[in-house]
Amino acid sequence: MSDSQNARAASLSHIHSGTRTKGDPLSTPIVMSSVFHLPGDPAGARQYGRFDNPTWEAVEAALAHLEDADAIAFPSGMAAISSVFLALLSGGDRVLLPSDGYYTPRVLLEKHLTRLGISYDTRPTASFLEGGFAGYRMVLVETPSNPGLDVCDIRAVAEAAHAAGAIVVADNTTMTPYGQRPLDLGVDIVLAADTKAPNGHSDVLFGHVASRNGEMIETIREWRKLAGVIPGPFEAWLVLRGLETLELRFDRMCSSAETIAARLADHPAIRSVRYPGLKGDPSHSLAKTQMLRFGSLIGLTLGSKEKAEAFIDTCPLIEATTSFGGVHTSAERRARWGDDVAEGFVRLSIGCEPTETLWQAIDAALKTA
Ligand SMILES: Cc1ncc(COP(=O)(O)O)c(C=O)c1O
Repeated sequence: MSDSQNARAASLSHIHSGTRTKGDPLSTPIVMSSVFHLPGDPAGARQYGRFDNPTWEAVEAALAHLEDADAIAFPSGMAAISSVFLALLSGGDRVLLPSDGYYTPRVLLEKHLTRLGISYDTRPTASFLEGGFAGYRMVLVETPSNPGLDVCDIRAVAEAAHAAGAIVVADNTTMTPYGQRPLDLGVDIVLAADTKAPNGHSDVLFGHVASRNGEMIETIREWRKLAGVIPGPFEAWLVLRGLETLELRFDRMCSSAETIAARLADHPAIRSVRYPGLKGDPSHSLAKTQMLRFGSLIGLTLGSKEKAEAFIDTCPLIEATTSFGGVHTSAERRARWGDDVAEGFVRLSIGCEPTETLWQAIDAALKTA
């Protein structure tokens, strides 16, 4: 990691130390309150639980520190995405999003936002720059895309889309601020499902939006207050705790993924492997220029649906779950959700288990699958 990333990681657990007085708890308290003591003029104080909460403020301060931008917390990744759409788009606007990214934003647009007059197009991540951005009010990138792990050039997309007058949004869920920094590459808004690695323990859903554009932040913050898409204080507290170990966990996960992807690429049971960190991967040369780590997700294709299912079910160190980014290694066959991937394609999310022990379990399961 660079010196500035190390400094950011090191100071994360200390950002509240300047505000403590003698006898205060070191751990951030969970404030469960729907109302606040509010006599007289309500200005300048916390007013109501849908507007403010001290535990959200604490997790937002941590997210803002990591993103180097203002951050707004949401109860899930999709709450963050839908709030960006609904707060910033109007009838008549057109959105461009990846055809191979997380599928729910496309379904949301198709089923609900088209009836408000918002239209959309999709384009593969690997050729996202082709066709230009004229006519789009918003352009959403997701790189590496989930689950195919193709990459697009964030800086080039931001420049071309801005020149065409679009707002540029990056879903950075697969990478976290330790693996990739889309705001530094020129996008207007970064958002993520903190449900994944930032929380990391597979026990809450959470999301956030971050931006250095004050006007956009205020519009989205007001949207949250009016629409009531607010996180619970306990969830905010758990994510705050997760963030304190994110650098440590993500480092282990990415290092293990690099080792394991290279071995999978040579494994006789595997037809093909996608991992941006592999020298032979179609994404590698671009990934090197914009990713700080290559991530914890590996795409691997086995010979058939049955072989893929057997691999997942046989390996004692793989949990068969949807989602990714947890401390435990997990995997799923994405064709079961209708993603445009081979029947034998498995998205493997590398967890925090010791690397060699994990590899031995994966290797043994592949030999029997
Ligand atoms: C890339 C990406 N973005 C957003 C989401 C949505 O997050 P959540 O499930 O917390 O709503 C997901 C969930 O899998 C995802 O993979």
